[in-house]
Amino acid sequence: MIVTVGGIKGGSGKTTVATNLACIAAGQGADVLLVDADNQETAFDFTNARKSDNPGAPSYTCVKLTGASVRTEVLAMAKKYDHVVIDAGGRDTTSQRAALSVSNILLIPCKPRSFDLWAIENVAQLVDEARTINPGLKASVFLNQTDPAGQGSENQDTIEELKKFTGLTYLDAPLGSRKAFAHAASLGLSVLELPRQHYNPKAVAEIMALFQGSFKVTVTSRKRQAAGA
Ligand SMILES: Nc1ncnc2c1ncn2[C@@H]1O[C@H](COP(=O)(O)OP(=O)(O)OP(=O)(O)O)[C@@H](O)[C@H]1O
Ligand SMILES: [Mg+2]
Repeated sequence: MIVTVGGIKGGSGKTTVATNLACIAAGQGADVLLVDADNQETAFDFTNARKSDNPGAPSYTCVKLTGASVRTEVLAMAKKYDHVVIDAGGRDTTSQRAALSVSNILLIPCKPRSFDLWAIENVAQLVDEARTINPGLKASVFLNQTDPAGQGSENQDTIEELKKFTGLTYLDAPLGSRKAFAHAASLGLSVLELPRQHYNPKAVAEIMALFQGSFKVTVTSRKRQAAGA
C-alpha cells in the first residue's frame, strides 16, 4: 500500500498525519517506509527526534526524496515494505506529481474553512491529471483541526462542499484540533504513544479511524507472515 498525504495547502496537517500513520503501522508490526518528499524535511526531523529520544519506539525507515526520484525510488523500494507513506508537502510540485503517479491513495487534510476549500478544487484537478498515468489512484479528503466543541455549522457546511467534488471521496474520519497532536509531534511520537499525562483517548480514536479508513486492510507484516502467524 502506498499512501500519499498531500494537497496544495500549507499547514493543513499533512506531516502530522503522515508521521502518525507511519508510527501506527510500525507499531502493528508492519515494515514501513516513510518518504519525506517535502523540502521542509519535517517528517525527516520528526523521525530523527523519534530515534534519538525514544529508542524503544517501533521503528520505520525514513528517506528524503525529491522530484522525479519520488517515483523511481518508491517503485524500486516499495516491494521491500508492507507500506509506504509519503509526505508530499503542500504545493503542486514535481515531487507531489511523482508521488501521485505511484500511490494507491492520496489523503488530503482540509481545515473546515473556506480558504482551504478553495484549494481543494485545484487538488481535484491534480488528481484528475495523475489518473491519466495512474488510473487506480483513490483520493480521499478529510477534515483536520475541527473544533472539538463541535459548535456552529462550519464542519457540516464544509463537508457538504467537499462531497460536491467529483473524483474525490469524503472520508468521514475527522481529527479535532487537539493539543495531543502537536505535543506528540514535538516528542517524535504518535498520539498512541504519548505518556499517560498527555494521552488523549479522543485523539487516539480519531487517528485510528483515519488509519483504518485509509488503509482499509489489516496490516499484516512480512515478518509475521514469514513466521506463519
Ligand atoms: N489535529 C490537530 N490538532 C492540533 N494541532 C494540529 C493538528 N493537526 C496539525 N496540527 C498542528 O498544525 C501545525 C501544522 O501541521 P503540519 O505541520 O502537520 O501541517 P503540514 O500540512 O505538514 O504543513 P506544511 O504545509 O508546512 O508542510 C503543526 O504545528 C501541527 O502540530
Ligand atoms: Mg509538512
